[in-house]
Amino acid sequence: MTTHTTQDAKNFAHYPSLAGRTVFVTGGSSGIGGDIVVAFARQGAKVGFTGRNAQSAADVVARASAVGPTPLFLQSDATDVPALQQAIRTTAETLGDIAVLVNNVANDQRHDLMAVTEEDFDWRVAINLRPHFFAAQAVVEGMKRLGGGAIVNLGSTSWIGKSKGYPVYATCKSATVGLTRSLAKELGEFKIRVNTLTPGWIMTEKQLTMWVDEAGERAMNENQCLPGRIVGNDVANLALFLSADDSRMVTAQDFIIDAGWN
Ligand SMILES: NC(=O)c1ccc[n+]([C@@H]2O[C@H](COP(=O)([O-])OP(=O)(O)OC[C@H]3O[C@@H](n4cnc5c(N)ncnc54)[C@H](O)[C@@H]3O)[C@@H](O)[C@H]2O)c1
Repeated sequence: MTTHTTQDAKNFAHYPSLAGRTVFVTGGSSGIGGDIVVAFARQGAKVGFTGRNAQSAADVVARASAVGPTPLFLQSDATDVPALQQAIRTTAETLGDIAVLVNNVANDQRHDLMAVTEEDFDWRVAINLRPHFFAAQAVVEGMKRLGGGAIVNLGSTSWIGKSKGYPVYATCKSATVGLTRSLAKELGEFKIRVNTLTPGWIMTEKQLTMWVDEAGERAMNENQCLPGRIVGNDVANLALFLSADDSRMVTAQDFIIDAGWN
């Protein structure tokens, strides 16, 4: 009998409803987004994803192909709305109407309140909030044709925990909750479900390289209820549940995965 928890994917849930479905992930070429692409492929889903870096996207494609259908990578910058919507159309034409949208793209680059210009503010919104809205807009017709769908918006505990150092990012992340709740009502009649998936501090390669220091390790030890570290796969596993038919009556909600920090 297993008496401890594990990160081994073979011990996690299998969702038959996701097999053969088309999934679209923004910012899937690295970090949590990459783990989300691989997790859906493992379920047998056909995944299209965007990102800027073709080299890191190739790594994600290789990891996903080893466990499921080969995903389709479409290189584009999320701040370019027509390109994002074109990538969504191309995915639907190639793999079939999109049943699941995971709005993952973001940039948590630090910025000083007093130094933010109008242009800078608009750029941060263009990465952290605008793509969520316009990607959702682009998948609605296909989801209606399918008779339903699931949209998962990645939020962040940054604003819940009142973190300093990235006020525009935190503002955008709080807005994903409002976006989720308004779209859930707009689209519920078409059986399109919309939920927020809110990560705490997740140990991606980027976070480990740029931000996790001794003080950060201490903060995790002190503030998390659970020992250990949260990894991208933990977030991906929740995205699977929120996209599968298992959560068919769940919508307009915000699910926090932060080991009990907040
Ligand atoms: N890692 C964490 O600790 C953490 C905490 C809270 C919330 N989140 C949220 O989870 C999601 C994923 O986080 P992550 O840490 O993997 O993020 P990340 O910083 O690694 O970026 C996400 C992805 O978006 C891509 N990207 C960034 N700017 C882009 C652009 N202009 N065009 C196209 N692609 C672009 C990146 O290359 C990456 O693949 C984000 O929505 C983030 O806000 C993460």
